[in-house]
Amino acid sequence: MTSSLVRVAQVVLSFLVSSALAAGPLKRATTCNGFSQLCGRSFGNVTYVGAHDSYAVGVNNAAANQDYNITQQLADGVRMLQMQAHNKSGTIELCHSSCSLLDGGSLQDYLGTLKTWMDSNPNEVVSLLIVNSDGFSASEFGSVFQSAGLDKISYSPSAATLPASQWPTLGSMIDNGTRLVTFMDHHADFTSVPYIIDEFSNIWETAYDVTDTTFDCNVNRSTGDTSTSMYLINHFLDTQGLFGILTPNVGAANQTNAVSGTGSLGQQVQTCVASTGRNPNFMLVDYYEFGGGSVFQVAATANGVTYNPSTPIASPRSTSASSSSSSSSSSPSGSTSSSAPSVLLSGSTYATAFAMTAGLLMGAAAVF
Ligand SMILES: *[C@@H]1O[C@H](CO)[C@@H](O)[C@H](O)[C@H]1NC(C)=O
Ligand SMILES: *[C@@H]1O[C@H](CO)[C@@H](O)[C@H](O)[C@H]1NC(C)=O
Ligand SMILES: *[C@@H]1O[C@H](CO)[C@@H](O)[C@H](O)[C@H]1NC(C)=O
Ligand SMILES: *[C@@H]1O[C@H](CO)[C@@H](O)[C@H](O)[C@H]1NC(C)=O
Ligand SMILES: *[C@@H]1O[C@H](CO)[C@@H](O)[C@H](O)[C@H]1NC(C)=O
Ligand SMILES: *[C@@H]1O[C@H](CO)[C@@H](O)[C@H](O)[C@H]1NC(C)=O
Repeated sequence: MTSSLVRVAQVVLSFLVSSALAAGPLKRATTCNGFSQLCGRSFGNVTYVGAHDSYAVGVNNAAANQDYNITQQLADGVRMLQMQAHNKSGTIELCHSSCSLLDGGSLQDYLGTLKTWMDSNPNEVVSLLIVNSDGFSASEFGSVFQSAGLDKISYSPSAATLPASQWPTLGSMIDNGTRLVTFMDHHADFTSVPYIIDEFSNIWETAYDVTDTTFDCNVNRSTGDTSTSMYLINHFLDTQGLFGILTPNVGAANQTNAVSGTGSLGQQVQTCVASTGRNPNFMLVDYYEFGGGSVFQVAATANGVTYNPSTPIASPRSTSASSSSSSSSSSPSGSTSSSAPSVLLSGSTYATAFAMTAGLLMGAAAVF
């Protein structure tokens, strides 16, 4: 008698437990991207700092856009990683304009590093922005995501295009374990790989590679409804050198990344809020740590939260006199360290790259 009562109790208990499990995740995230206030916010209603050319890392290297690797970028608060994907003998490789200028390694290795970070930071939603420079298919990217194990934690939207307001909350993405959001500029294919999301029908962009500090908020690229879609500001300043080659204006980076003042990130956000009525979703910057955390301060203000990092972020490494000290470049070969277009997202030509390399080798001390 007693034993059958125990048995009934066991069955009832296991039923209760399994129905609780079936009803949904038992645990609800209470901190999302560092803040409790963000858990209930739609992904499309949050402002994120993004690293432009996140893989293009090198100190005093004119082809680089960042001083620190993506592990450090993520640790410091970067939540969108932008990259250019190139075809290196059939492998998807992260290069800057050309793999002979700057080769940041394979997509496979990069995604492996990202997976490691995301596994140890389960309450973070991270976005990728892939510039598909050489036209790989979505399924070719999908294979690399699968072998890195990132398909399992990727968010697949309910439709190929979502207005900003229809994105799920950060909390629900974290609870479901689908907290990697990948956008791609060309050849996304919702039918074959739903988690590689078409960029321009979902996100419009401001102009990129600008050389003056105006930083307007006009629509530069979009294939969607700009009144409802998310948007991205390209907030990195270039300098025009020999042959019209553009390189990051490192000397101005502290001010470019600043909270306020001429040409600052804070100022462009204000320009955008004045014209669109809402904050940008993504803010792509070079040398994110210049400004001592100012870019994260701008994001926090836009999100209505308080920026209060538990540990100081990394210190700037590159100096404004980059070409004069290119021998300290972390790039393995001297020729890559002295070449540098950042403009040539798609219009890059071999001739230009050659002319630029030649020009820089001839005595580029005055260029940067
Ligand atoms: C990334 O950079 C940090 C320093 O900021 C360094 O400790 C770490 O080893 C680097 N990781 C890789 C994979 O190179
Ligand atoms: C990448 O390059 C290889 C040759 O190295 C070629 O066979 C392949 O078709 C290329 N892929 C794309 C997407 O162009
Ligand atoms: C979370 O998973 C549930 C159940 O599969 C699904 O209905 C919901 O849409 C998912 N939410 C997100 C944000 O993925
Ligand atoms: C977009 O920006 C690029 C680079 O800054 C510029 O050359 C182009 O004219 C802009 N196009 C539009 C439509 O604004
Ligand atoms: C940027 O600011 C940092 C910290 O204030 C300073 O050490 C560095 O020299 C500045 N860099 C430039 C290029 O102005
Ligand atoms: C989020 O919504 C608030 C309230 O409407 C708005 O002020 C803010 O600009 C929005 N942020 C983004 C990134 O959409």
